[in-house]
Amino acid sequence: MINLKTTAPVAGARITGLGAYRPARIVTNDELAPRIESSDEWIQERTGIIERRFAGPDETCASMGAAAGSAALADAGIAATDIDVVIVATFTHRHATPSAAAEIAAAVGAINASAFDISAACAGFCYGVGLADSLIRSGSAKHVLLIGTEKISDVTNFDDRGTAFIFADGAGAVVISGSDTPGIAPTIWGADGSSMDAIIMQPDTFTAAREGVPSVLTMEGQRVFRWAVGSMGEVCERALDAAGITANDLSAFVPHQANLRITNAIVKKLDLPESVIVATDIQHTGNTSAASIPLAMAALRDQGQLKSGEPILMVGFGAGLAFAGQVALAP
Ligand code: UT7
Repeated sequence: MINLKTTAPVAGARITGLGAYRPARIVTNDELAPRIESSDEWIQERTGIIERRFAGPDETCASMGAAAGSAALADAGIAATDIDVVIVATFTHRHATPSAAAEIAAAVGAINASAFDISAACAGFCYGVGLADSLIRSGSAKHVLLIGTEKISDVTNFDDRGTAFIFADGAGAVVISGSDTPGIAPTIWGADGSSMDAIIMQPDTFTAAREGVPSVLTMEGQRVFRWAVGSMGEVCERALDAAGITANDLSAFVPHQANLRITNAIVKKLDLPESVIVATDIQHTGNTSAASIPLAMAALRDQGQLKSGEPILMVGFGAGLAFAGQVALAP
């Protein structure tokens, strides 16, 4: 039998750069509330959201992703031509094919990279971190550009009381590169397709009124809320165990910014010490699905609260129902 050659494994991978893109238009609760007979008070109390951002008509999931990607490359101090793989987590790219990743790779000048999207909704960023870590440690890639980007305002029914106020637009990105020691611990992940109808993009009468929008997002909010509160704490505990650390070792907790009440419930379940900084970017950014974790990480950094090289815990969860969590060293 012939022995084939393969790549030599690498000891570890690390997040080396971080970038964010927030569209300019700030949308208040008061702007959205009248159409759904809601109020600023109700939205803040039930979700923590004070305001969110919506992309402009000329902005796309790919254009925002490219802006965040370029910022992450500059932050990492590496050239776009050195990127081996571009991975994009999104569910709001305009085309089923080609991928947002291919469009973004061309836009940022990552001309030597392979490029593909992953479909894991709000868990997509953490799926991507796990994937990038594996690609690098197996020796298949040296530098990966991972982007979470969403233009959810394109697929939102603003007359739907269950979704109109929660979702928003934006993009966040990281560069993940090889390192001598592990900077990303094992990913705990899964999916339960038997609950695929809990959050789903599907044709809706609303779409008849909007050209170019094939379907809208619908969500059984309470069902997703109960699932997240009931099971994401355990996913986090397993991620901490897999990393060989405890909650006391963490410097920050950066969960998917789904709902501030979900974040608070997980914090309580984990009994996080007060020293652990908890990301609450949802208050000013809304729920940006795959973009929310890198955006929240960037917000912490802007506030001087992200300690480079210190362990942070991330967990993403949403449509699928898919989830993923891991501990990584902060960029
Ligand atoms: O990112 C992907 C994963 N997604 C999530 O994790 C989202 C999970 N779900 C949620 O965050 C929450 O379920 C929502 C924020 C979407 C909704 O909050 P809720 O506390 O679950 O509201 P609810 O549907 O249980 O409704 C509670 C009450 C009801 O009134 P009664 O029956 O108690 O009198 C609703 O009629 O609030 C009423 N209500 C509203 N009131 C004002 C429902 N929607 C609204 C609204 N404005 N938009």
